[in-house]
Amino acid sequence: MNKLSCIILAAGEGTRMKSRCAKVAHALAGRPLLAWVLDAARSVAPERIIVVIGHDAERVREIAGEGCEFVRQEEQLGTGHAVAQAMALLEGYEGDLLIMSGDVPLIRPGTLARLVGAHRDAGAACTLLTAVFKDPSGYGRVIRRTTGRVQKIVEEEDASLFEKAVEEINAGLYVFRAPELAAALAGLSPENRQGEFYLTDAVGSIAAGGKPLEAVQTETPGEVLGVNSREDLARIERILQGRIQGALMRDGVTIVDPSTTYIAADVSIGRDTIIYPFTVIGGGVRIGADCRVGPFSHVRAGTLLEDGAEVGNFVEVKNSVIGGGTKAKHLSYIGDTLIGSGANIGAGTITANYDGVRKHRTIIGDGAFIGSGTTLVAPVTVGKGAVTGAGSVVLKGRDVPDGGVVAGVPAAPIRKKGKK
Ligand code: UD1
Ligand code: CA
Repeated sequence: MNKLSCIILAAGEGTRMKSRCAKVAHALAGRPLLAWVLDAARSVAPERIIVVIGHDAERVREIAGEGCEFVRQEEQLGTGHAVAQAMALLEGYEGDLLIMSGDVPLIRPGTLARLVGAHRDAGAACTLLTAVFKDPSGYGRVIRRTTGRVQKIVEEEDASLFEKAVEEINAGLYVFRAPELAAALAGLSPENRQGEFYLTDAVGSIAAGGKPLEAVQTETPGEVLGVNSREDLARIERILQGRIQGALMRDGVTIVDPSTTYIAADVSIGRDTIIYPFTVIGGGVRIGADCRVGPFSHVRAGTLLEDGAEVGNFVEVKNSVIGGGTKAKHLSYIGDTLIGSGANIGAGTITANYDGVRKHRTIIGDGAFIGSGTTLVAPVTVGKGAVTGAGSVVLKGRDVPDGGVVAGVPAAPIRKKGKK
């Protein structure tokens, strides 16, 4: 079997994004575009992954992280030019090259495997991935001969009216045999409407040279949508939310209204938990079984809701543990807090976790009852079964012991009702 390496094109500015940062740094479900593309690339286990960087290079390098090699494209002269820069690291390499666009994030591992497999089975010089779009505008069109063989790819800007009517598009994902690609790149010229060296012309020249050229068409065209504008970004986010939320629902989570719910990648949620509308759940959050979240909740990174916990209307939770069966149902901010099980967090409870310089922790014991409108100035601990009266301000370091009852501003111990 031929060796496989991967080149990811991520040097472009993404002019149509009108952004200061690189297009591939924009987030989808809480992760940069490039991270999604890298995941897909790794699924076919390439020997090397070479990322072509240029615009906003340092940020892109950081996102790509370990396990990648980088090559700089100083001037963004086109996709063909970008690949040529990467070829400098591949001298003498005779294996296959999977070429991916950094802005096509939904591509499924199974489709990449099919692309690579088809290429190997056919012993092709080049195999490209195509899709049929009802609205192909903005994409390169795949022009086939009457025999059905691919003849060339024509960019929208350079296409004739007849070519523009073609609905089969180039996904921007290809496998090339390295020597044939190198030869084709050497022959590229920027004589086109955009004045760029098009990688797509390398496909055309391989076809013209009579080398074996294959095309694999995806049956799920949505996976090859490219992100060129912020509208594309929003559209693709919606698709990704469908995937993420679909998987959770199939695993037994109720999501009452997926269209107003946002769940980042890598969130885990247990069975029979119900997510009510207008809820935002951030990256890496873990939610147990039988929980209730929302409506209008914001559960941020670093949070764990244990089984049966409830987080309700206008409650924000960040970097906190909410113990089993604990309820925080209305109008609260809970940050950097560890709450035990069976506690009740009254409406409007605020953990004042930030003193302007540093973040501090709050600890609330099992079965504690935090009265409505309590402010807990961190660092502070409220013991197991302890009670704070409505409107209490518990100052930092004034820990409430297990079973203690405090009230007032600042909160001071009081005797529990009914006790002498
Ligand atoms: C490209 C294809 C088009 C295809 C579409 C699929 C070409 C000429 N066109 O068009 O046929 O339908 O993708 O999404 O290849 N990049 C660089 N350096 C450059 C230029 C681009 O690294 O000099 C990178 C970009 O950062 C991006 C990728 O290459 O990640 C694709 O570039 P983009 O300008 O978005 O190409 P499209 O116009 O979408
Ligand atoms: Ca693109």
